[in-house]
Amino acid sequence: MLVLRRVSFLLSSPSPRAPLAKPLLLLRPPQTLAPTARQLVAMAASVPSAGGAGTMSRDAFRAAVTNTLERRLFFVPSFKIYGGVAGLYDYGPPGCAVKANVLAFWRQHFVLEEGMLEVDCPCVTPEVVLKASGHVDKFTDLMVKDEKTGNCYRADHLLKDFCKDKLEKDHTLSPEMAEEYNRVLAILDDLTAEQLGAKIREYKIVAPDTKNSLSDPYPFNLMFQTSIGPSGLSPGYMRPETAQGIFVNFKDLYYYNGNKLPFAAAQIGQAFRNEISPRQGLLRVREFTLAEIEHFVDPEDKSHPKFGDVSDLEFWMFPREDQMAGRSATRLKLGNSISEGTVNNETLGYFIGRVYLFLTQLGIDKDRLRFRQHLPNEMAHYAADCWDAEIECSYGWIECVGIADRSAYDLRAHSDKSGEKLEAHEKFAEPREVEKLVITPSKKELGLAFKGNQKLVVESLEAMTETEALDMKAALESRGEVEFKVCTLGKNVTIKKNMVSINIEKKKEHQRKFTPSVIEPSFGIGRIIYCLFEHCFYQRPGKTEDEQLNVFRFPPLVAPIKCTVFPLVKLEKFEAVAKKISKALTAAGISHIIDMTGNTIGKRYARTDEIGVPLAITVDHTTSVTVRDRDSKDQIRVDVDEVASVVKEVTDGQSTWADIMWRYPAHTASAADEDGAQP
Ligand code: ATP
Ligand code: GLY
Repeated sequence: MLVLRRVSFLLSSPSPRAPLAKPLLLLRPPQTLAPTARQLVAMAASVPSAGGAGTMSRDAFRAAVTNTLERRLFFVPSFKIYGGVAGLYDYGPPGCAVKANVLAFWRQHFVLEEGMLEVDCPCVTPEVVLKASGHVDKFTDLMVKDEKTGNCYRADHLLKDFCKDKLEKDHTLSPEMAEEYNRVLAILDDLTAEQLGAKIREYKIVAPDTKNSLSDPYPFNLMFQTSIGPSGLSPGYMRPETAQGIFVNFKDLYYYNGNKLPFAAAQIGQAFRNEISPRQGLLRVREFTLAEIEHFVDPEDKSHPKFGDVSDLEFWMFPREDQMAGRSATRLKLGNSISEGTVNNETLGYFIGRVYLFLTQLGIDKDRLRFRQHLPNEMAHYAADCWDAEIECSYGWIECVGIADRSAYDLRAHSDKSGEKLEAHEKFAEPREVEKLVITPSKKELGLAFKGNQKLVVESLEAMTETEALDMKAALESRGEVEFKVCTLGKNVTIKKNMVSINIEKKKEHQRKFTPSVIEPSFGIGRIIYCLFEHCFYQRPGKTEDEQLNVFRFPPLVAPIKCTVFPLVKLEKFEAVAKKISKALTAAGISHIIDMTGNTIGKRYARTDEIGVPLAITVDHTTSVTVRDRDSKDQIRVDVDEVASVVKEVTDGQSTWADIMWRYPAHTASAADEDGAQP
């Protein structure tokens, strides 16, 4: 658990003749998204396999996926020849291509669609910026240490693993204890350091490697520290997120946008977090790509003109009340979750809907995607509402996108620290006479009374609502002093009459000045890509009974290579046609590979199915060629001069395979061809 952790074309439908193979991993039926203890036990034991024949454990499924990914160089541990470094990975050629496709679609779906202002800021960030944002003091996770060896662990992860292990493996577990462990899992992110420590002691949790006892949990700052320039006197950090680069540029971006709200800025870039115990492959790493949006909006009007475009979407949502009560996620219509107040405002709801469309169009299974609302303690005190897009994979439910209404916190924090006014204004057509509540803390008196805490008390006084301020005014007038809770200090202080003046004043105003609220969707690209790998992976039987062929069922949008070109046999006339087709594909901007090896055609198909290439062109004639669909293995015959445009139609998403199949004669490949026999 992190104390500050910033809260935070269409997928071509499958051919009717080509039902998609069921994913190997069906962790549980979609309607029961929160498993009971018994379901967890069943899930751990086995999962149905593609053809329904046999079963595969979650671990075996994960091993099959990661083995394929590493063998085919989607990604590999960084610095492998030196033993690697935990939490650092390299993307190889197909991994880079998938990532580039995901980012290109992100730019199209968000930046282009909403006219967002994209920026690109440095990773090295001076300390002052991250001091203002709160990261220097609070960007921490709770850590426990092995009392003998000093090995470090994330406290909440140990507790989570312990509860899951009990639920999955302890067959003598009483229903009461199963309920207790499920409850702890549901509220894990809500626990304070003290509560976590108490649970670790109560359950007698020890260091996993040595079984030694553990220290109490304490905060560990996740930022990588550095210094800027040779003197060593200018401290800096590698940015833990890209958002701060946008906040510090707010004034210029607002001006660039014609001094108009709302507008959004976006940034894609590397983020660095010195995670305590990186694990789970690409899911928790120490350097990763973030894509972040900061949508600036008037706090008094968070409606969204395009909300109607997404209001009818219905998907799995997991509101806070349901989590606390131990209930399951439910399918909700986005429009209703706004009208019933489950989601705080339309703009936040709009982004939740757009994130749903983004992820499902990439190929994420909509029944293994849910939006989970943050629990009260999980959310920063200033945040109005937060939802995480969580995707289920073999590691369980993983937060992949955080979508938060962070109110005016970030801009205010940088405004205070830098002295630069980071605000927006609304000009009135006619001047307005307004009654204004003016809260003026006396910094001198508050300084004398609270010394180093003066700033936090001033901020809390200024942040009072009108009702709170008027109540305080009345109390100060009648009693001379009042108890006042300063959340950021975590305690009450006594405010005396000379420390603050609260008045209602009449004023003529020509404009309204305000600090915009910010709504922030923050995408962990590596996590999304890994979940996509799992959701797209399946195995189908090969030539022999035991042979299983790996397939990534990537939608053309994300497939690393869109098409292959194979001369059926090594003949000069076929190779010349293959080269001609390759030229046409290049001219059409379609990524492809030519495989001129003499391998059997079946072997060549299998090799490219394994990296998820959707279409294969085989040159078996000089005037027409065959085009094969990866998932159905169906083939059609197309003229050489037409084939590049047919491939483009499908890989651009203008047509599906089903759309084009009926336009061309079917080619019947012999089973021997597919099974790898020589043609
Ligand atoms: P977690 O609780 O899992 O550590 P977080 O709540 O700290 O995540 P945010 O600060 O909201 O995450 O970061 C935004 C996004 O960045 C997350 O939704 C996630 O997709 C991604 N992310 C965060 N930490 C990592 C990491 N160590 N490795 C890969 N991706 C990460
Ligand atoms: N198109 C040739 C084959 O698959 O056999």
